[in-house]
Amino acid sequence: MTTIDELSSSPAPAEPMPETDAQAQLSRRGVLQLAGAAVSLVVAPSASAQASPSPTERATKAARVRLTVNGEARQLELDPRQSLLDVLRETLDLTGTKKGCNQGACGACTVLVNGKRVVSCLTLAAMNDGAEIETIEGLAQGDELHPLQEAFIEYEGLQCGFCTPGQIMSGLGCIAEGHAQSPEEIQFWMSGNICRCGAYPGIVAAIADAAGRM
Ligand code: FES
Ligand code: FES
Repeated sequence: MTTIDELSSSPAPAEPMPETDAQAQLSRRGVLQLAGAAVSLVVAPSASAQASPSPTERATKAARVRLTVNGEARQLELDPRQSLLDVLRETLDLTGTKKGCNQGACGACTVLVNGKRVVSCLTLAAMNDGAEIETIEGLAQGDELHPLQEAFIEYEGLQCGFCTPGQIMSGLGCIAEGHAQSPEEIQFWMSGNICRCGAYPGIVAAIADAAGRM
């Protein structure tokens, strides 16, 4: 029969099995392998980051751009962030194209790109690879002014002259588009070109006159 002493006594805890030499080596090897894997996980991203250029490095890598400017072929290595306006003025020294607002609001920087008028401050030069660019410097033939340049003088379409290159290039685009059939039409289609001197009557008259002669 079982006594009270025998019921209240708990069994003795099991003794841990002694670890064999082979088990001890396996567990140590496993720990080292795990540690090695963890280190390589930490190291791997920075190694791959070093291999590929950062977004800033990619953005500043020089871009090869071919432009034909006023009939002359140019091969340029440019910062891809440069606007067409800055390339014309600062790289090619064609300062006839003016920088007014530098944000597309005044039209002073207007040039023709493949025959279409474009505000050159809002387009990257690198995006115009292979394009034909016409600026105010390309209009006159030696001493002979373009008919629209002559008309601006004849109708006094300028005062200080700062906006004039952009007005003339935009006027050429306006005529080529067929938007110079009346003074009202010219006013509407030239509304992106601001003249702070208010020479608008002369500008409109000059474009209307040149449109009839071109
Ligand atoms: S400078 Fe380009 S629109 Fe004003
Ligand atoms: S002539 Fe002066 S801004 Fe137009």
